[in-house]
Amino acid sequence: MTTRSCLSIVLAAGLGTRMKSDLPKVMHEIGGLPMVGHVLKVLKQAGSDRISVVTGPDMPQLEELVYRLAPTARCYVQHDRLGTAHAALSAKPALEIEADDVVVVFGDTPLVTASTIMKVRQALQSGADVAVLGFRSANPFGYGRLLIKDGQLTAIREEKDASEEERKITVCNSGIMGFAGQHALSLMEAIGNENAKNEFYLTDAVEVANARGLKVVAVTGSETETQGINTRLQLASCEADFQKRMRMDALEKGCTLVAPHTVFFSHDTNLEPGVTVEQNVVFAAGVKVAKGAKIRAFSHLEGATVGADSIVGPYARLRPGAVLGSDTRVGNFVEVKNATFGSGAKANHLSYIGDASVGSKSNIGAGTITCNYDGYLKHRTEVGAGSFVGSNSTLVAPIKLGNGAFVSAGSVITNDVSRDSLVFGRSKQIEKTGRAKKLREKLQAEKDSKA
Ligand code: UD1
Ligand code: CA
Repeated sequence: MTTRSCLSIVLAAGLGTRMKSDLPKVMHEIGGLPMVGHVLKVLKQAGSDRISVVTGPDMPQLEELVYRLAPTARCYVQHDRLGTAHAALSAKPALEIEADDVVVVFGDTPLVTASTIMKVRQALQSGADVAVLGFRSANPFGYGRLLIKDGQLTAIREEKDASEEERKITVCNSGIMGFAGQHALSLMEAIGNENAKNEFYLTDAVEVANARGLKVVAVTGSETETQGINTRLQLASCEADFQKRMRMDALEKGCTLVAPHTVFFSHDTNLEPGVTVEQNVVFAAGVKVAKGAKIRAFSHLEGATVGADSIVGPYARLRPGAVLGSDTRVGNFVEVKNATFGSGAKANHLSYIGDASVGSKSNIGAGTITCNYDGYLKHRTEVGAGSFVGSNSTLVAPIKLGNGAFVSAGSVITNDVSRDSLVFGRSKQIEKTGRAKKLREKLQAEKDSKA
């Protein structure tokens, strides 16, 4: 990691008209994280010590998001959308404090990695005054093209301004540009708007720098990383690429994915090496799974922690606040919300366990329901360690079961149960010997008399 200081500017003022959405474009999510969140994360990893984000005048929710995700970032508003150079200059107060490196990135390019940003910074460190991240594309339509001569990048031509010949070039501009801090502001201020869209193009910094005899280079990245999102179709295909990346990461770190293409990750899914994930599993935000655990087919997890060697599913649903200790079992059609399971605890079939704690080695029988909500307030259920809750029990919260309690099947439990007690909360069984036979005879006679 370099010790050079780095100011990063994220351009995010565009309306994203092509998305046909009320939401600012960069707030659309990839892997459950807004695009701009991916960019902010990567800039921090790439050693940016100052981050500026340029937003539109009508995007208070975007500013709020930026400050939540990166409290030390600064937002600047671009009042008129006059192009990418104009956008970068909206952060002029930040540019006036000189940094060694200035990196400009687009908020709509979420898959770029820190090591690629570092490549741009390394080019600056090695003496380039401007470094542009380019990529090769079989379908370059819509991207700016890089005009390179003898290793020097001489210009970037936008699709609309390019000649027939220039449009044949397949090396494209990703939008990520590095500037030597001492030149950044003056290059941007020298850019004009004589082009097809009458916009101030940041890409024109390349020609301005050439005219000044500065060193301008292109650095190459991959198309997958540098894809820009302008439409919903591109958003969906970017999501697919992100999922592929997450699956590769999981496999490489030593997790088993039985059918990788059927497992869906959130940007923050944290699987330890040695986790097994079966087919058709969805990880929503905030899931952590410890080594040796197995997530079986068709399970959905969100905001949940799964302890080592536990088995979840098939068909389990872990909702936010589900914290399973080691060696636990949560089986089919069991929903757990805001509840802890001590090590070795089990709920194997058809249950709802919400706002609860289940002590270690306790067994929750099939069909057990915690009644945690009375229509107004949520209440807690505490099941002590080593307890046994019989099938189809209803635990009406607030309620506490002491360690080693034994609840008989089909009970409705409304009062606390002391430790090691056996409790019945169901009506007594009544048996009338021979009465079934008599009843059948009576009913048959009635039926016959009507025939
Ligand atoms: C831009 C590049 C193009 C490159 C492509 C890569 C320019 C002139 N063109 O084209 O060379 O190949 O990205 O994806 O730079 N923005 C503002 N304010 C503005 C205009 C844009 O903040 O006034 C922001 C947008 O929010 C977006 C980014 O700048 O995040 C790029 O703008 P966009 O309109 O998407 O540019 P492209 O046409 O994709
Ligand atoms: Ca774009």
